[in-house]
Amino acid sequence: MLAKIEELLEQAKLAIDSATSVEVLYEAKVKFLGKQGSFSHLLKEMGKLTPDDRKTIGKRANEVRDILEGKYAVRENLLKDQELNSQLEAQKIDVTLPGVAPERGVLHPLWRVTKEMCEIFSRLGFSVRTGPHIEKDFYNFDALNIPPDHASRDLQDTFYINDGVDRKPGDFSPWLLRTHTSPVQIRSMLTEKPPLRIVSPGGVYRSDSDMSHAPHFHQVEGLLIDQDVSMADLKGTLGFFAREFFGSEVEVRLRPSYFPFVEPGAELDASCPFCKSKGCGMCKGSGWIELGGCGMVHPLVFKQVEMEYPKWNGFAFGMGVDRMAVVKYGVSHIGLLTENDLRFLGQFRP
Ligand code: DAH
Repeated sequence: MLAKIEELLEQAKLAIDSATSVEVLYEAKVKFLGKQGSFSHLLKEMGKLTPDDRKTIGKRANEVRDILEGKYAVRENLLKDQELNSQLEAQKIDVTLPGVAPERGVLHPLWRVTKEMCEIFSRLGFSVRTGPHIEKDFYNFDALNIPPDHASRDLQDTFYINDGVDRKPGDFSPWLLRTHTSPVQIRSMLTEKPPLRIVSPGGVYRSDSDMSHAPHFHQVEGLLIDQDVSMADLKGTLGFFAREFFGSEVEVRLRPSYFPFVEPGAELDASCPFCKSKGCGMCKGSGWIELGGCGMVHPLVFKQVEMEYPKWNGFAFGMGVDRMAVVKYGVSHIGLLTENDLRFLGQFRP
């Protein structure tokens, strides 16, 4: 019996020492010291012993139980500490580690240029108006004196929006993606009272696209309506703009041209800020860079919006923002502006 007790002691010691988790340790405790455990079974057999043996063996049995309970408590504490430590280790936060800073965004160069253009005109008293990108043909064409057979109304040039109506071949839906920002002139003249000084930035759409034409690009439109406005006011305004935008040495010139909604109409050029008009790749050797179109608002436009002419007259202009950005920042290829390559866009930090 005594030998069995010693054997159990050795087995239990081994089980306690080799337990690697609190659960396994507890299982060992149940197995050896629990009510149904080996040790209890052994004690039950004590009844069969002589009183003398019972005394010595009982004494040893109590010692052994005390030894095992003591060992169990020590091992349990150790394992609990270890488990707590490894949990803490897993959650450990190094407060000295620098945080992951979110990447700082920058304004897209097109939006930056748009803002700067509007801001320059605002110093001359112009305020910003916007118009819808899905336009009606009246605002985009008719009211601007663009006749029904004008080439720009062609399917090759204009994206028409299918309104579900069956039409004869050659007839278009009245809904389209605006091909320029000029319809905002009409919207303002119809809803506001002169005098007017407005600029209108935004996206425009044309269905032609090649190396130098994108189907979606951006313009800034300008309109000034007042009394006794002259072509000199137009040139002075655009000259101020070009000098503010490109630099004080830049000059503008107006080349006679035709747009149905202005008379006289002109093409607006700025002297090349890159080569100081000597001729370079940016100005294709000409010394001048085309910025857009302009002119004196056509009497037929006043008629369309029922504004009294010549009591009121005025000028209008429209410039390409994408082109402006290319020239301002020396961008080698216009497509870079819309490719969304962060290596390119990230260079436009203020
Ligand atoms: N809307 C014209 C275009 O997209 C540009 C333009 C020319 C606008 C003359 C004007 C203007 O306001 O007077 O080609």
